[in-house]
Amino acid sequence: MMQEKKKFSFFGIPKIARFLKKYRKEMLLMVLFGLSGSLVDIILPLFQKHALDNFVRGNTTDGIIVFAAMYVFSVVFAAVVNYFACCLAMTIEVSINRDLRQSAFNHLQTLSFSYFNQNSVGYIHARVMSDTSRVGELVSWTLIDSVWRISYLAGSIGVMFYLNARLTLLVLLILPLLVVLFTVFQRKILRVNREIREINSNITGNFNEAIMGAKTIKSLAVEDELYSGFVKNTSEYKKKSVMSSHLRGLFAGTMNLASSIALAIVLWQGGYIAESDVGTFSAFMSYAQGMMEPVRWLVDIISDLITTEANIERFSALLSVKSDVVDTPEVIEKYGDSFEPKRENWEPIKGDVEFKDVTFKYPDGDEYVLEDFSLKVPFGSHVAIVGETGAGKSTLVNLVCRFYEPTVGKVLIDGKDARERSQLWLHSSIGYVLQTPHLFSGTIRENILMGKPDATDEEITAAIKAVSADEIIAKLDDGLDTDVGEGGDLLSTGEKQLISFARAVISDPKILILDEATASVDTITEAKIQAAMEKVTEGRTSIMIAHRLSTVKNADVILVVKNGKIVERGTHSELIKSRGYYYELYTRQYQDEKTAKILS
Ligand SMILES: Nc1ncnc2c1ncn2[C@@H]1O[C@H](COP(=O)(O)OP(=O)(O)OP(=O)(O)O)[C@@H](O)[C@H]1O
Ligand SMILES: [Mg+2]
Repeated sequence: MMQEKKKFSFFGIPKIARFLKKYRKEMLLMVLFGLSGSLVDIILPLFQKHALDNFVRGNTTDGIIVFAAMYVFSVVFAAVVNYFACCLAMTIEVSINRDLRQSAFNHLQTLSFSYFNQNSVGYIHARVMSDTSRVGELVSWTLIDSVWRISYLAGSIGVMFYLNARLTLLVLLILPLLVVLFTVFQRKILRVNREIREINSNITGNFNEAIMGAKTIKSLAVEDELYSGFVKNTSEYKKKSVMSSHLRGLFAGTMNLASSIALAIVLWQGGYIAESDVGTFSAFMSYAQGMMEPVRWLVDIISDLITTEANIERFSALLSVKSDVVDTPEVIEKYGDSFEPKRENWEPIKGDVEFKDVTFKYPDGDEYVLEDFSLKVPFGSHVAIVGETGAGKSTLVNLVCRFYEPTVGKVLIDGKDARERSQLWLHSSIGYVLQTPHLFSGTIRENILMGKPDATDEEITAAIKAVSADEIIAKLDDGLDTDVGEGGDLLSTGEKQLISFARAVISDPKILILDEATASVDTITEAKIQAAMEKVTEGRTSIMIAHRLSTVKNADVILVVKNGKIVERGTHSELIKSRGYYYELYTRQYQDEKTAKILS
């Protein structure tokens, strides 16, 4: 292990090599253009030398036309090739950013819920946005910059040696000094910048919390505490930013000083040649000045590459996360995956669901939520699940949908292990109204269409009617074309539930799952939905989770869950007769409702 760690890793680039391959040609061309531009930069001081030697000292204008033409040609040539190098760098940068983001987005869609439970939105966002942009920058601008600067540095040192080896060695003597100086500065600047970044992310966090939790903050009356935290962070940010500017100013000054020293050396030691060979002398002056920037850059770039390596590591780690729920290669071969489904091979689903000795715990949990759980739900039957908060009701339906897989045991769909067919096959036949309904930004109509993209207006109206949402939608200003806001936040929770209910039934799913689907609507609307429900669930397998027991009376079987175990099962009347836990829950709720009625 240790051995492996020490190995030079080329700044993580091999990990993303497959994304770069596509742009090999562009990168090669960019490097060639960059080299040609740099070559011109290297020979320009020689033009100066030639002019001084021939036209000034030689006191003649012979050949000046050809000289001028060559000079102009070189300058124009450099401008053109550098322009192309920049265009290519830009193209490579945006193309690679796009490719990386697309593959990350795609990959995220395949991951199971446990990944999103374990990683925050902010973390994933940073991987997809900033890590990818660092990588894009590395293989475009950083690459072309290094071509320009390194070749200029090498070329100019070569030419200097050719002109005067002794003077060159003297100028190069200050290089180690420069490197030490730059490194010291750069360490300090890096440290301050890292602190600035950290404070900045805290400030962003402050903003996030203040926006997302605006209501809660107001209701808890903690505005001043949040504000003082914000003030502390922003003041610190200001302090560190000023410090960073000071350091950068000092650094720039030192750099100028260093280049003056190099010039002084040339003047001091080269002065004697100025008389006899003013051309060489002036070329030397140009080279000595031009060397400083590339040296500073080289010191910078090393630390840049080290941070970029961390970006690449994190990004490729995201791409290599395996979902906890994956289709086997054989299944993908036959049924296709989520992006290229082979619908022609899909068996029509009947809608039988069976739990067979299922034991389950969440990938990041340590307690078993279900143990040795078995249940048969034949097609067309209606199951209700009741029980206290945290008992494991939503977990059961997560398993039916294969959002998670049993730790031990099987979930069978139509008699076959769900793992033997593709996730998309199953999900296409399930209508699921989640406990916390989520709508996408857009109109109500657009949201319902997500359940069936090619639905006609009649189908939409029918779906809305089927779940008794028609009256409520009609009351909204723009009816079906009402904008729901981000996440549906412009609507009430009850309205969101009704719309996600309509979205679930419009595709005519064989299995309908309702997780507290009507928990947030008033009792009158609930009663209407209840009446409509019999029709909606007809010809489907339905699994319904409910807190209000009055809504589950008609179920074929009621499962009473307690601490992840089914403690009772049976029809409403059977359970009432047996006078167990269900009876207790029911009478208590019934009493409460009756009291409420009398009081009102
Ligand atoms: N993603 C998760 N990772 C780890 N543990 C979880 C996860 N989701 C739920 N749990 C745990 O599993 C248990 C059952 O949760 P579940 O959501 O199934 O309860 P529930 O019966 O639906 O409750 P409620 O009536 O409040 O919706 C709880 O103890 C909960 O803490
Ligand atoms: Mg739940």
